[in-house]
Amino acid sequence: MDNTGETLIDYSVGRLVTADEKESQECQVKGCIPDWLNGDVLRNGPGEFEVGPDKFGHLFDGHAFIHKFSIKNGEVTYSGKFVRSEMFKTNRQYNRILCGGLGTKSYPDPCKNIFSRFFTVLTTSPSLENCNVNIASLGNVHYALTDGGFAYRFDPETLDTKKLVSMVDVLNIPLSTAHPHIDTNGDYYNLAITFGRNAYYNVVKVPASSLGKEDPLFDMKIHAKIKVDNPLQPTYFHSFALTENFIAFHDQPYRIHVPKFLWKAATWQPLVDSFRVDHSRKSLFCVIDKKSGDQIPIRYATEGEFCFHFVNSFETSSNGRKFLVIDLCCPAGKNMNDGLFILKNMRKPMMPNKSTPTKFKRYILPLEVDETTPKDVNLVNIEGSMAESKVQDDGSVFLTAELLLDEAHSGVLELPRINYKYNGKDYRYFYSVSFFDPDGGGQLVKADIQTKTGIKWKEAGCLPSEPVFVERPGATEEDDGIILSTVLNQDPAKPVFMLILDAKTFTEIARAEVDTKLPVSFHGVFDIKT
Ligand SMILES: [Fe+2]
Repeated sequence: MDNTGETLIDYSVGRLVTADEKESQECQVKGCIPDWLNGDVLRNGPGEFEVGPDKFGHLFDGHAFIHKFSIKNGEVTYSGKFVRSEMFKTNRQYNRILCGGLGTKSYPDPCKNIFSRFFTVLTTSPSLENCNVNIASLGNVHYALTDGGFAYRFDPETLDTKKLVSMVDVLNIPLSTAHPHIDTNGDYYNLAITFGRNAYYNVVKVPASSLGKEDPLFDMKIHAKIKVDNPLQPTYFHSFALTENFIAFHDQPYRIHVPKFLWKAATWQPLVDSFRVDHSRKSLFCVIDKKSGDQIPIRYATEGEFCFHFVNSFETSSNGRKFLVIDLCCPAGKNMNDGLFILKNMRKPMMPNKSTPTKFKRYILPLEVDETTPKDVNLVNIEGSMAESKVQDDGSVFLTAELLLDEAHSGVLELPRINYKYNGKDYRYFYSVSFFDPDGGGQLVKADIQTKTGIKWKEAGCLPSEPVFVERPGATEEDDGIILSTVLNQDPAKPVFMLILDAKTFTEIARAEVDTKLPVSFHGVFDIKT
């Protein structure tokens, strides 16, 4: 107890264990798994936070670990393996953290003498291709991804690491998002930055025709490029929007300080301090015509805010006006530098989290604005909408958001997911998870945008992961399907399990328990098998 009488909570309990590697282990199924649900849940995240005597400094630094629950005819098996990245192999070889990352310093080979180590620091960079954030499925080919210039192809059956793809080699891309999109025709899109005197935000694309190749990412081409206004401080982005006709991203005050980034990378220092908030900037939306690759000539601005994740985006019209709707997940006051992600903070008990609840914001961008458009008049004419868009004296459009979820139904939520069939389309539901509840546990939330309410799933001591939606075959309703979430437990004696919820009612249908150790994971996919 602290002197306020509140109990301190150790938020690391259950989240920061070292993952067990498993080839294939049968799970104990409780409940009845729908007979149509056959396939693999594949999830990625940091699998260990200590190597020998060394500890990683940032939640995002732990070695990538992929785990899988395979569902077949009502039975479930579990497997999990570390990605054999160069970083992983080096650190494991020396049983030290020589290759650090975002919040961890790197060191040259300790077997070399001091002169040779000094030379190594000056002439090379540490291996930092730790793809521990997400999984991209390009047809039957799977890659482990991070926000960076690397991807590791892995075998979805064995989880063995197969090949490193360097996007630096393919297109000179040092940074791309961990959240690519797959268009309705199968085209793969991502957003990337190229540094230099003329720095660009690039939309990169792998055409659907490349699916079926051994490594389709090698076919990646630049589809569109937007010049960065300040090449020394481009925006950071982690996701973006893809609709039928547009690609949009959030140019936010959270910037990458490029000279610092390059210096820290070259001198083997933690990279996180090269990211910082420029409080003088507003948030901007950059909207690109998907077909032509040209940026549309309307400047959109909002209050400055940070966002990891777009929830969804879609085009709509009302009384002859066309709009692009953009929904963002804005975790108030948090970014990668936030203390919540620093492991030395997570490892010690903290006060129950009193953070401001996450704001899920809807912005409505008018798509037809010119010099004849009246100024300071709300252009959003959609019935019931609270969002505003007003042309300013300088010709830009200032956007004011409407909240998608009432505060009473929110929380410290993140990792929003939708029924991906509705990506780029008008939709009603999203699913999200809270990791930092006041009681130390977590919860899943199904959010209903229409009513701004949410339904929760919660169990004492349980720490669910990002909820993945799987549609029931033949479904005609958006929420006709199930939610899959890997659930950890704060009590080490209790099993890890894959939770299966009915997405409509958000009640449990079944769970598949496995005796293993598994820490927090970030993102995952479901591969349907028939
Ligand atoms: Fe993410």
